Amino acid sequence: MADGAEKTLAKAIVGGPRHVAIIMDGNGRWAQARGRPRLFGHHAGARRVRDIVSSCPDLGVEYLTIFAFSTENWKRTQTEVSGLMNLFRRYIMKEMQALLRENVRVRFIGDRPRLDEKLRDLMDEAEEFTRHCTGLNLTIALNYGGRDEVSRATKRLAQDVAAGRLSPDDVDEETLPKYLDTCVLPDPDLVIRTSGEARISNFLLWQSAYAEYEFVDTLWPDFTPEIFTGLLCAYGARDRRFGAVSA
Ligand code: IPE
Ligand code: IPE
Ligand code: MG
Repeated sequence: MADGAEKTLAKAIVGGPRHVAIIMDGNGRWAQARGRPRLFGHHAGARRVRDIVSSCPDLGVEYLTIFAFSTENWKRTQTEVSGLMNLFRRYIMKEMQALLRENVRVRFIGDRPRLDEKLRDLMDEAEEFTRHCTGLNLTIALNYGGRDEVSRATKRLAQDVAAGRLSPDDVDEETLPKYLDTCVLPDPDLVIRTSGEARISNFLLWQSAYAEYEFVDTLWPDFTPEIFTGLLCAYGARDRRFGAVSA
């Protein structure tokens, strides 16, 4: 790499995003293009997660939130849904040691009661085992939907109001996010979606109000740390104004 390019890269990553959220899309099409079943693509996609997770510390990313299964994905065939649930169970069991070694703190967001008990236990274990980790904060959105999350949050908020623990006058932009699944996380700075679709599909609706977006054509199983780095550099060159006027 030429000296100048190296400097630009370092500078861009210094000004890079602290929290990146990724809609990992395109596994099905990746498999179909190879004449294989959709689950083959999901397995290939799961392997990609490791590379991206490992690349985060060097790139200055402190929080990575990945969309693994949406509240709408239950509409898929039973074969695909149960294959995905098996994959999630196996993934957590298999990756736990590696994540611990890499000092990754794991959290899950989404509606848990609908998931099977074995998977829920593994999710609890992963969160517990990595509670002391101080490296990357990896959040996996599993049975997650932004509208579902806001509805569940509002229900709990309403319960607090009904019980006299919260005054309606105190409900504002600071209070509501405390009830969201993401209450301990900062808002995402950059949301990436792979596979060429330019939509957010119910991901982090409240939290992404001022996020920057990158939609890339690459299918998730082909997404590499190099492509990821390029997107982080592009982020560094953006001017986030939050409604104000730049200096
Ligand atoms: C994303 O890949 C993974 C999940 C939604 C679980 P898809 O399965 O949506 O892949 P495409 O969009 O059909 O190619
Ligand atoms: C979004 O992808 C959900 C995940 C990546 C887990 P989808 O493939 O489900 O989204 P749509 O259906 O194309 O909007
Ligand atoms: Mg898709």
